[in-house]
Amino acid sequence: TYEISIKKPKKEIPVQSNMYGVFFEDINFGADGGLYAELIKNRSFDFTNSPTMGWLTYGDVSVETTGAPFERNPNYLRLTNSGLLTGTGVINEGFRGIGVKEGEMYQLSFYARSIDSEAKNLRIELISSGAEIMAHVDMEVTSDDWGKYSVELSPAWTDPHAKLRIDLRSLGSIDLEHVSLFPEKTFKGRENGMRQDLAQALADLKPGIFRFPGGCIIEGNSLEMRYQWKNSVGPVENRPVLENRWNYEFQHRFTPDYFQSYGLGFYEYFLLCEDLGADALPVVNCGIACQYATEEVCEDLEPYIQDALDLIEFANGSVTSTWGKIRAEMGHPEPFNMKMIGIGNEQWGEDFPNHLEQFMKAIYAKYPDMLVIGSSGPSADGEQFDYLWDEMKRLDVDLVDEHYYKDPEWFLNSADRYDSYDRKGPKVFAGEYACHDHPQKKNSFYSALCEAAFMTGLERNADVVHLATYAPLFAHVDAWQWKPDMIWFDNLRLVKSANYYVQQLYAHHKGTRAMDLTWNKENLTGQDGLYASSVIDDEKDQLIIKIANTSKESKTVNFDFSKLKLDKNSGKQITLMGDLEVENTLDNPDWIVPTEKAISISGTTLKAELEPESFHVFVLK
Ligand code: AHR
Repeated sequence: TYEISIKKPKKEIPVQSNMYGVFFEDINFGADGGLYAELIKNRSFDFTNSPTMGWLTYGDVSVETTGAPFERNPNYLRLTNSGLLTGTGVINEGFRGIGVKEGEMYQLSFYARSIDSEAKNLRIELISSGAEIMAHVDMEVTSDDWGKYSVELSPAWTDPHAKLRIDLRSLGSIDLEHVSLFPEKTFKGRENGMRQDLAQALADLKPGIFRFPGGCIIEGNSLEMRYQWKNSVGPVENRPVLENRWNYEFQHRFTPDYFQSYGLGFYEYFLLCEDLGADALPVVNCGIACQYATEEVCEDLEPYIQDALDLIEFANGSVTSTWGKIRAEMGHPEPFNMKMIGIGNEQWGEDFPNHLEQFMKAIYAKYPDMLVIGSSGPSADGEQFDYLWDEMKRLDVDLVDEHYYKDPEWFLNSADRYDSYDRKGPKVFAGEYACHDHPQKKNSFYSALCEAAFMTGLERNADVVHLATYAPLFAHVDAWQWKPDMIWFDNLRLVKSANYYVQQLYAHHKGTRAMDLTWNKENLTGQDGLYASSVIDDEKDQLIIKIANTSKESKTVNFDFSKLKLDKNSGKQITLMGDLEVENTLDNPDWIVPTEKAISISGTTLKAELEPESFHVFVLK
């Protein structure tokens, strides 16, 4: 039996109320084709490598570039009656198909004009993967001025791989632009909103923080390809399309049709944070392109700094300020209450600290309470890492974003990582991490167990580690570039990985203060394969213990909390366990899920039997 003692630490260790959250990036079709509920790929015909990518055209269809209704998306299509029996029209393939459900309503909208004064008839159809017509509507385009047209479609059956067809049924020509199809049901019923099931999975995590929009896409392969938040606000039709930074061969996979519509833009991100109850953590480009690509450095940093200042004004400024007014016009006069901003992602060169310093000066001068987050580069160790940390300390930035995609051994050996961190230096934001269980990098239960064990060290050191987000978040099973990922999905379903459940267990049971948990007077950080930490939740009046048994033997533990002077008599034990190799899949989503049982406690000790290779959360009331 392992006698484990729990007592108050010498100095109070508060746990940040937003400590556990999510990191979002448009990678693996995470936004376009994923969370963003738009079902049409290349809706404005502006993919730069091919304006009709995602569209099958037949008959007489041309791409036009002058006279478009939205100047930042200059292409549109002209459909001309070909006189042939086969007609003229276009078919959109969606993002690896269009997922539609029987009986649900889908709203199609597009901009069109007749190019003579005659009205034009169109037939709109949802076509199944078996080429059958699932729903159709006939409609008229009545004007030779650009106008918005909308129709509703309700498919007769469910199909994850449907298509949308627009067929010209009149003589003459018609122009077509910004063809958009949304499910009527979006998360919280928002217009231009999020896919309901994916957003709900985020809400179910109860994230405290939401970091966006990446990741490498912030920096871009070149500076021209960086994410520019100003392009992502205002009317969706006029947000310029950008080639996604992940539109290249990676991990032996290639998705040449990966572009960002910016439909999920900064306004939508802030709104989503509000809907999720999470603090928004936007990250902006620091004037340097991605360290894995060109590493191009800007000649003039001033516009980049101005973008950061304007972003804060967009989020928090009054409705009379330049950018606050745009937020208000988009439908949110109240400020979004942004509290922190990340500068740069994973930069490792010498330019970064210098750029960061200039950002910090400008931001603190105007917004002294804003928390600024720097970076320690892509690796969690090494010379570069030490150099960057020294620089971050010199600059006295508020938090440092550390990333680690490491193997199981690293995670198990690093549970004490933060025990020795400087208590006077910047705080840590563990902004991207995941255990990579080689060689397949599966979302195996073993990877989740190693993360759970490691995270006891985050919790124990909550005075230093203020924020933590697993990465990446989403992956489309047919269009991913990177794994492992927390949530996998296809066009209609999703699966929560074992790693998701670990994050959820920590987020739901984060407590308000960390306790001192020791075995033989030492922190429990892997002795005989055991890892543990404990918190008190003052608001819920709970004592919470998290313990991972990574060994192959079952262990008997006896928690003694008599020194806390708490008298707990009931509670529950939540357990996550399974075969180490197993991962949840779309067809078998429940291989590894938490199970719960009631437990009773006598006085101030708790005895428990921990199965081999298992993770447990005890919640005592
Ligand atoms: O999460 C995937 C990528 O990993 C991110 O874009 C980047 O920050 C890191 O290298």
